[in-house]
Amino acid sequence: MSEIYLNGAFVPPEEARVSVFDRGFLFGDGVYEVIPAYGARPLRLREHLERLGNSLRAVGMDEPLAHEQWSAIFERLLNAAPRVDQAIYVQVTRGAPPVRDHRFPEDTPPTLLAMAKVMKPRDPVVAEFGVSAIARDDIRWLRCDIKSISLLAAVLLREEAHKANAEEALLLRDGAVTEGSTSNIFICRDGTVATPPKGRLLLHGITRDLVMDLARGDGLVVEERPIPAAELADADEVWITSSTREVMPVTNIDGVPVGDGTPGPLWRRIDALYQDCKAELRGYRV
Ligand code: PDD
Repeated sequence: MSEIYLNGAFVPPEEARVSVFDRGFLFGDGVYEVIPAYGARPLRLREHLERLGNSLRAVGMDEPLAHEQWSAIFERLLNAAPRVDQAIYVQVTRGAPPVRDHRFPEDTPPTLLAMAKVMKPRDPVVAEFGVSAIARDDIRWLRCDIKSISLLAAVLLREEAHKANAEEALLLRDGAVTEGSTSNIFICRDGTVATPPKGRLLLHGITRDLVMDLARGDGLVVEERPIPAAELADADEVWITSSTREVMPVTNIDGVPVGDGTPGPLWRRIDALYQDCKAELRGYRV
């Protein structure tokens, strides 16, 4: 990583420092975005910045920069490695007042951070065999639509998945599937695609919206509706989506195969369209 953007300056990573009083550090009091970029061109940038604005408003913070200002920062970060796929991480915290106090500080500027990291190409094993998941209770709070940096529940769930040799923990609340610990979920049955509806119980994933657009554009029926946990066991295909994972086929949940236990035909169709989107943005295929 050549440079990090921190509070108005571009600095080498080892020189990027924040105060121990930063409310992100003390309270997890901040929000973030992860934006994929292909050929140094961010995918669905406007949508990501709009979601950042929504998260900020939901936690009582103003948007610190205009979209054009963020965009110029990202351009500089991405152009350090224009030929590789990258993900931009953006974080805004409620700043570093001189004392620790839960109440919002006055006259304290937010802490702004942006950095780009290389995204490795997908392991071919994923397309051939799919990935495993576990299903667990959704132990997170009731505002999962806010992309908050307070991620302890997600961290614990993701680690539990990792310990079970699984890629993701699929989350169940009141008998319905909400999303994954770091992804949204789609299920397919008899040629129809379904995903849980937007609301406060899941992140309004940008990849989720893109996948819905691609599927509908390709003539598939996509339903946004509550998905009872029992439908996981009956699904022909299950996918998880995120900016860094794209669309991934889940072929095993808690040791039980999904469908015939291999990545399904609808996943192949949507994945091909998704790869086309990336290639179009990049201007070439890899
Ligand atoms: N996470 N749901 C949760 C809980 C997530 O953390 C994410 C993404 C998604 C997918 O959203 P999108 O398609 O906009 O990436 C859904 C990011 C990648 C992360 O925390 O690193």
